[in-house]
Amino acid sequence: MSGPIRARLTGVGGYLPRTVVTNDDLAQKIDTSDEWIRTRTGITQRHIVSGDETTASMAAEAARQALEQAGVNADDVDAILVATSTPDQVFPAVATQVQALLGITRGFGFDISAACSGFVYALASANSFIQSGLAKKVLVIGSEVFSRLLDWNDRTTCVLFGDGAGAVLLEAGAEDGEGVLSTHLHSDGRSGDILYVDGAVGCAGTTQHLKMLGREVFRHAVVKLSQAVDEALEANNLTGQDIQWLVPHQANLRIIDGMAKKLALPSDRVVVTVDRHANTSAASIPLALNEAVRDGRIQKGDLVLMEALGGGLTWGSALVRM
Ligand code: COA
Repeated sequence: MSGPIRARLTGVGGYLPRTVVTNDDLAQKIDTSDEWIRTRTGITQRHIVSGDETTASMAAEAARQALEQAGVNADDVDAILVATSTPDQVFPAVATQVQALLGITRGFGFDISAACSGFVYALASANSFIQSGLAKKVLVIGSEVFSRLLDWNDRTTCVLFGDGAGAVLLEAGAEDGEGVLSTHLHSDGRSGDILYVDGAVGCAGTTQHLKMLGREVFRHAVVKLSQAVDEALEANNLTGQDIQWLVPHQANLRIIDGMAKKLALPSDRVVVTVDRHANTSAASIPLALNEAVRDGRIQKGDLVLMEALGGGLTWGSALVRM
């Protein structure tokens, strides 16, 4: 008798826009400094889209790389889930645009809106589709152009974010103890007003800019991510010592360091990209994972913990044996 269907992660990919904007570049336009940004957040630069770079084009390139690494033909993909808060159009979904860009003519695709937790939400959803038998090969993508949501005159927010895309391929057929071991998702709409975008196309008289109470978000992030990490460890009967890699959402180096300390993980076991990418929202975890897999740090068999918190508030974790 065969056991339950489990999902494994077989490919990763990423795309960063060509244009790099440093803290010093920003300091020439607004009242800020490299020193302020670096000491508060760890960020030194970010990538920003230009020319023909879009949420869909970046997503498709990241997905292409993930498929190539997995050795899977695009037309064998059953589902595409794109986590994004910055679609190029209200509809069609970025996921169906990616489907067309990759020449995929079957299966289905849709977008997921969970702000900076979007990738964890998409991974959990893809995992459930695979477990239920609805799909066997699922592209899970985070792609964002947060540069279009920012008020570039608001120094309290515009220095924190960047653009980019990351992708993974999940496939049915993991052995026991391998692949996606657990996912946990949470949201609490009561704190929606501490991190939000003011309006959307359906809402007249709004700025459509990102607004944030930074200190409040920081406070929630420390408490809720801590709980999320405990929850993931408890559900799998593990301790912090069992985790080989922390691949956290990349919002702020101080928050990342706090989580590493909680797990008693040395800094060389924590994948950090926030210094060069800034906060790319739903793209940050797959971009970080892509970097650490491709440079050989994360190896097959390694136990990887991912966690994120974002607007909503939304938060959650995923534990994956590579
Ligand atoms: N450059 C220079 N000064 C700045 C600045 C900037 N870019 N942004 C804010 N300041 C100023 C403020 O105006 C304030 O000045 P004041 O004391 O004269 O009023 C001072 O710096 C301190 O601001 P504050 O907001 O209290 O700083 P902070 O230490 O809380 O750091 C964040 C701000 C945003 C870096 C921090 O709160 C944070 O990281 N929060 C979490 C954000 C996050 O992760 N969001 C995404 C979640 S997905």
